[in-house]
Amino acid sequence: MRSSIVFYLNGKRQEVSGDLAFLTVSDYLRYERGLTGTKVVCAEGDCGACTVLVSRMIQGRLGPYHSINSCIAYVYSLDRAHLITVEGLKKDGQLHPVQAAMVEKQGSQCGYCTPGFVCSMALLAEDALSKGFTPDEKKVRNYTTGNLCRCTGYAPILEAGVSMDLGRVTKLSELHRDEVVLSELSLVPHESIRIKGVGKEVFLPVTLSEALAERASDPAIRLSAGTTDLGVVSNKGRLQLNRVLSLQQIEELHRVERTPHFVRIGARVSLHQLERELTQEFPEFSSLLRIFASPQIKNSATLVGNLMNASPIADTIPFLRVADAVVILSSPAGERRVGVNEFILPGYKKMDLNANELVTAIELPLTSDEFKLYKASNRKDLDISAVTFAARYRLEDGVFREFSLALGGVGPSVLRFGKIEKEVIGKPLTRALFQGLSQSIRNEITPISDVRGSAEYRHRLAANLLLRFHDELSGEVSV
Ligand SMILES: Cc1cc2nc3c(=O)[nH]c(=O)nc-3n(C[C@H](O)[C@H](O)[C@H](O)COP(=O)(O)OP(=O)(O)OC[C@H]3O[C@@H](n4cnc5c(N)ncnc54)[C@H](O)[C@@H]3O)c2cc1C
Ligand code: FES
Ligand code: FES
Repeated sequence: MRSSIVFYLNGKRQEVSGDLAFLTVSDYLRYERGLTGTKVVCAEGDCGACTVLVSRMIQGRLGPYHSINSCIAYVYSLDRAHLITVEGLKKDGQLHPVQAAMVEKQGSQCGYCTPGFVCSMALLAEDALSKGFTPDEKKVRNYTTGNLCRCTGYAPILEAGVSMDLGRVTKLSELHRDEVVLSELSLVPHESIRIKGVGKEVFLPVTLSEALAERASDPAIRLSAGTTDLGVVSNKGRLQLNRVLSLQQIEELHRVERTPHFVRIGARVSLHQLERELTQEFPEFSSLLRIFASPQIKNSATLVGNLMNASPIADTIPFLRVADAVVILSSPAGERRVGVNEFILPGYKKMDLNANELVTAIELPLTSDEFKLYKASNRKDLDISAVTFAARYRLEDGVFREFSLALGGVGPSVLRFGKIEKEVIGKPLTRALFQGLSQSIRNEITPISDVRGSAEYRHRLAANLLLRFHDELSGEVSV
């Protein structure tokens, strides 16, 4: 058992134990390493000023680099990783081509957002080189969805991204000689880690059985996955992360497995990985994930974390409910499989979870039924939903043989609508049917008013999304 973590920072070895392991990565960089290029503006994952690039060692290899928000990531999560910050992008004292392009196109004024944009676009350059594409404006927009600029305006930044000289880009793996980093990280034993600070403790087991024993011995311990929810509430001072059980080091939880009947998604699989993995079996869900948060968030966030945070407006839960997903729960007593519709209990954030259990995976049963998933939010990108809609259906000769409906943002939890489902099955697809349903749904929901919309707005959205569903299926509007 180790009591410290080891990682590389811009090619230099770091060994961290005690209180420093509990710092956010951005605080560690700025206050412990003097790397003040990484900025903190919102401290809640929204603006991207704190973006850094990470490659993690898994199964003896350093994986591809991805971007994360360092303001809501913790140092303890970096064991056996290589972290590159904006300071680490220069080669032989020369600016990275994206930095040079930002200077040339005047993509910076106050400069607070600039290092974050630079890191996101350096990742774009990396992917462009390894996957063989040319960054166009759409790509630049996609890679910088999680970066906000409040003063320059986006046009010069987009121009910088499009015009950077790819021919001069050095791959991230060559900037700090990743083969050396890997050979040194390989010497760090892959064993469980327990770190204690003043009034704090984190346990990072490498096996599930150790995780289960820890959870059973301390039911109040806080499970942590990508910390995109936990980091925000902790930064806002609404939660003390004093006793943490991190599932980061358990390799089996990072897997997506397939059988002829279902896809099994491990508790540590990131949403970004899932977006790419599910294009064949669940294309509609994969498309929904495209507009989930930002690349930085999706690179850390997990499906299990989204379910367990249990927000009534969580984007994935309506899909999980109509897909009849199965939640796999483990405790020292063994495994329990519960359908997600039984797992989610009536009321706000209530679930059928025992104190000694944790979720190890979610299974999605394979089906030939179709899905329609809508996220209604004020902005398309990086916004929290006002209402979410998921329908699963099968039409045979214009008649519904299957129909399941779930909505988020209309009550204390994401809801299924059994009465409406029964009304639809066996009926032909007609506007009159859905016009009727759009009236009756209003009596079944109890939305609240908040900053994202009034209760009346949500009533109308729910009704209109049902009509949109009809109109798309009948071809009355194009998708
Ligand atoms: C800027 C920003 C944008 C966001 N955008 C969206 C969005 O568009 N749509 C959306 O739905 N959400 C969004 N979120 C919320 C968040 O990213 C998601 O809920 C995410 O899926 C949480 O996953 P995580 O791995 O980070 O969970 P964590 O923060 O690590 O954990 C979340 C909860 O799950 C529990 N938990 C984690 N793993 C387990 C386990 N194995 N067993 C039992 N309990 C467990 C934790 O204890 C905690 O209570 C956003 C968040 C931020 C900061
Ligand atoms: S400081 Fe805004 S996302 Fe981290
Ligand atoms: S340059 Fe000031 S916020 Fe972007």
